[in-house]
Amino acid sequence: MPTKPKTQKIQPVQRPKGMHDILPHEQPIWEKIKKNARDIAEFYNFSPIEIPLLERMELFERSVGEGTDVIEKQMFTIVAKGNEKLALRPEATAGIARAFIENGMSQLGSPLKLYLEGPMFRYEQPQAGRYREFHQLNFEILSNESDPIYDAQLMLVFTRLLESLKIKNITIKVNSIGCKNCRPGYRRKLQTYYKQKKSQLCKDCLRRLETNPLRLLDCKEEQCAPLKADAPIIVDELCTSCRNHFKSVLDYLEELKLPYALDHRLVRGLDYYSRTVFEIVVEGYGQALGGGGRYDYLVELLGGKNVPAVGFAAGMERIIDVIRLQEINLGLREKPKIFLIYIGDLAKKRSLLLIEEMRRNHIDVAESLGKESLNAQLRVADKLGSPLALIFGQKEAFEESIIIRDLKTGAQETIPLAKLAESVKKKLKEVDA
Ligand code: HAM
Repeated sequence: MPTKPKTQKIQPVQRPKGMHDILPHEQPIWEKIKKNARDIAEFYNFSPIEIPLLERMELFERSVGEGTDVIEKQMFTIVAKGNEKLALRPEATAGIARAFIENGMSQLGSPLKLYLEGPMFRYEQPQAGRYREFHQLNFEILSNESDPIYDAQLMLVFTRLLESLKIKNITIKVNSIGCKNCRPGYRRKLQTYYKQKKSQLCKDCLRRLETNPLRLLDCKEEQCAPLKADAPIIVDELCTSCRNHFKSVLDYLEELKLPYALDHRLVRGLDYYSRTVFEIVVEGYGQALGGGGRYDYLVELLGGKNVPAVGFAAGMERIIDVIRLQEINLGLREKPKIFLIYIGDLAKKRSLLLIEEMRRNHIDVAESLGKESLNAQLRVADKLGSPLALIFGQKEAFEESIIIRDLKTGAQETIPLAKLAESVKKKLKEVDA
């Protein structure tokens, strides 16, 4: 007799490393953050914009900068048919600047305030608060003037967003990294300083010393940390115009009473910044909730006119981490407190219309209409933790009534269907009391 072939166990396909499903029970918190961000965007006149998830690789090389970690290590790239080199967007600012130029958006007036939310992709080593797919809320202001008031307004918007989510103990870390005129001098000073310490630098910093010396200040390696303490400070090297700009930003922050702190080592990891850079951190959480700054040359660098701009992006995953860390109760939509149970075909048939009546009266109701037995339906109600059940049987259907039962105490009463909404609302109040 031929031997029976062994049945092979089918291995389920797993999600890519560093990427996550956002499951139904997690959706309310994501929706809440997006709703608050959209409300704030609307109030401060930021118009929504969407851009492709894929852009030409060249866009990021030219804007984010070739010597940055994002370009050197973190790009998800695709070579499409026709040898077109594309990349999943690691951030949105470059794409927004591209869209601004390509769609002639300077015609739309100045300042142009834009809001974008969505996923970004970076090939990072996944760890807490650092993923390969993550979600950002971006606020950008493109205007004809490099006016410091916009820098401050964005920090205000970011702060208000976090406050609307009841996040406490935030600090805005702020610095200026100068402009085309003053930064080269500072960069040389920094190079001279670090060249004398070459033997103490990590491998990455040795490379950065030649390609992108400002990034030396951002190195997280322990061996490089002490060198940072004595490194020259950029604000000492700012030209008059950058110094005035920075001073005005700080004046506005004072006026707004925003919780800021100067951070002379803050340089940010993307090349397109000039003048103001900032990040928001929260006490007890190791990563920045978001960051941003001015990018006065980006539009021009990408082939557009001279349009100074400033913006920031907040990371949604990190905001959620902090909401959990601070045990914040956002009063998210609760599960329905009423569970509708039917018994028999006539009641089943009429259940859909009963639910419609509840909908008209803004009463949330759960059901499992596909389950025939009373016990099976009760089990679902129990699993959902519904405190109240509406029980609709054959008899009730004929008599135009329904039973409302307290599932904890078992107490129940029969009410006329004509008074359904009114009676349910009354009972819900009793349960909530
Ligand atoms: P960024 O600092 O690279 O700036 O990212 C902003 C925020 O996105 C971070 O503070 C963090 O909350 C979140 N984020 C970044 N990488 C990850 C990751 N791997 N996992 C989880 N969250 C992450 C930008 O992207 C700039 N485009 C911001 C900007 C807008 N500048 C001007 N306008």
